Amino acid sequence: MSSLEILKDYDVVGNYSQDEVNGFSNDVIPTLINAVIDFYPKTLLDCMAGDGNLGQRCLETFAERKVPAPEMQVLEFSRVQSEIAKARLAQWNSTVWTGDILTMATHDGEPLFTENMFDCIMIKSANHEIPLASQLQMYSQLFRILKPGGLFINLGFAFEDEKARDEVRHLAQCKDSLAGLHGAAANRYFLMKDEFYAFLQNAGFNGIRPLKTFNYNISADRVGKNYFPTERAKYQAFKNAVASSAHLKENGFIESKGTDLAFLARGEITIAFKP
Ligand SMILES: C[S@@+](CC[C@H](N)C(=O)[O-])C[C@H]1O[C@@H](n2cnc3c(N)ncnc32)[C@H](O)[C@@H]1O
Repeated sequence: MSSLEILKDYDVVGNYSQDEVNGFSNDVIPTLINAVIDFYPKTLLDCMAGDGNLGQRCLETFAERKVPAPEMQVLEFSRVQSEIAKARLAQWNSTVWTGDILTMATHDGEPLFTENMFDCIMIKSANHEIPLASQLQMYSQLFRILKPGGLFINLGFAFEDEKARDEVRHLAQCKDSLAGLHGAAANRYFLMKDEFYAFLQNAGFNGIRPLKTFNYNISADRVGKNYFPTERAKYQAFKNAVASSAHLKENGFIESKGTDLAFLARGEITIAFKP
């Protein structure tokens, strides 16, 4: 799959609400943001930022808490999502770049960030977009551009049950295929928590630890509304796939609410430092 083909995926999605789809409880994103603010970064990178929603909430919270705002940069692969992020962040002191985390360059090959540049880098629910073979490259790039003593904070899937991970991967591929996100369906890799920690360690990070564990709660109704709002047959196909996830069901990872059906997946906010 060429990068241009993958690039089309989040161009196709357009406007959507990532946090709504993931069904995080109200305390999850504030925990991440407060940890960033309490670190008092002067330079901050929102990486794989989608429409820039995390960067925006972060800068709003810096202002509410009357903490001096950092100079924020934003990196996103999709041109469409980058444009949405630019509009969202127009009033804030920030720069949005369209490029690739694996090269830390624009799609035209222009290098973006230098070594030891950021006090803090945050990634929200995106490291699973990168294939297994490139995972170490991603954390090594983050390590390179982080300052010594800098903080990497990641919110993402962190599975401890391999069968649950496999069924969630199947459901994600089902949703991606139905939504026409063929690059994502082929490339995504859902890490076990210990695989993730090993990659961070191999990239050079230390002080790796969980800040918070939580559940993703991904429901058929919310997926349908955000990815195929007018296509009833696709919604029903996804709901059927959730209903037939035997291991998730047996282990209490399927939840019904009225006529809606959701699956749960282990998530974690993880922090790691560059020595
Ligand atoms: C699931 S979305 C999450 C977006 C955002 N962090 C949020 O929580 O709303 C993952 C994002 O990662 C971006 N992405 C995928 N591969 C990337 C890469 N190689 N470099 C930079 N961004 C990438 C996608 O375009 C997409 O916008």
